[in-house]
Amino acid sequence: MVQTDSTPSIMPQVIISARKLTQSIQLQQKKLSIFENLNLEIYAGEQVAITGRSGSGKSTLLGILATLDQASSGELYVQGEAVHVLNEEQRALVRLKHIGFVFQSFQLLPSLTALENVMLPLRLQADFHYAKAEQKALALLKKVGLERQSSQTPKVLSGGEQQRVAIARALISDPQIIFADEPTGNLDGDTAEEIEQLLFQLNRELGTTLVLVTHDPALAAQCQRHYELKDGALFEHATRIEARL
Ligand SMILES: Nc1ncnc2c1ncn2[C@@H]1O[C@H](COP(=O)(O)OP(=O)(O)O)[C@@H](O)[C@H]1O
Ligand SMILES: [Mg+2]
Repeated sequence: MVQTDSTPSIMPQVIISARKLTQSIQLQQKKLSIFENLNLEIYAGEQVAITGRSGSGKSTLLGILATLDQASSGELYVQGEAVHVLNEEQRALVRLKHIGFVFQSFQLLPSLTALENVMLPLRLQADFHYAKAEQKALALLKKVGLERQSSQTPKVLSGGEQQRVAIARALISDPQIIFADEPTGNLDGDTAEEIEQLLFQLNRELGTTLVLVTHDPALAAQCQRHYELKDGALFEHATRIEARL
């Protein structure tokens, strides 16, 4: 457990804590180090941007922070719970409870309708209740502006609409944290802007934490904190004071 006993209650709540995270991949002959000994704390409600050149390890890091993948070594705590000691099945339960993930390539199941895609994560819950799940998914589709498209399959939806479905899916289990890996990377300029604003609006409205990988420096500057991943290490950028307010 993370030591919280001595933390005064006015301190912002740490929601993700990463200690000495190291990721390396064994390629045929040699070991490729992606990053080493990263430390990062993410607080409840904030927006954190992670930037870096292509291949710098952003997706790898986000996948580990979101418990989708496991680091080679190091510790990861989600809401104080040690995740690095859990197996895949146990990590899936942590994700279901705390985490939503939005991918660059949407990752919707093509044979399911928008509504069914949004409901899908809830099917893992022990107390899954179809009618309740359907009602919740419909409310979320409405929230992202897709009420009328609920029975469409992804192939008839535009890229922006597919990403809205994916955002609704990420929100279905009331996660405290949303991770988004270049969520606008496959969208045109105007649509990208709409999706960005939607993510920020939901972060404010629902009080969720947003951890965003982006190529866009202007978008990173809108976040309260901005880290750059470079040469396997994280560097914190100074952010505008307005973004912190
Ligand atoms: N499974 C893998 N096997 C081999 N190399 C990988 C694998 N996953 C990622 N990499 C390499 O690790 C580095 C970081 O990848 P990635 O996290 O996708 O970077 P980014 O998201 O910043 O573009 C890249 O050099 C990539 O080629
Ligand atoms: Mg990437």
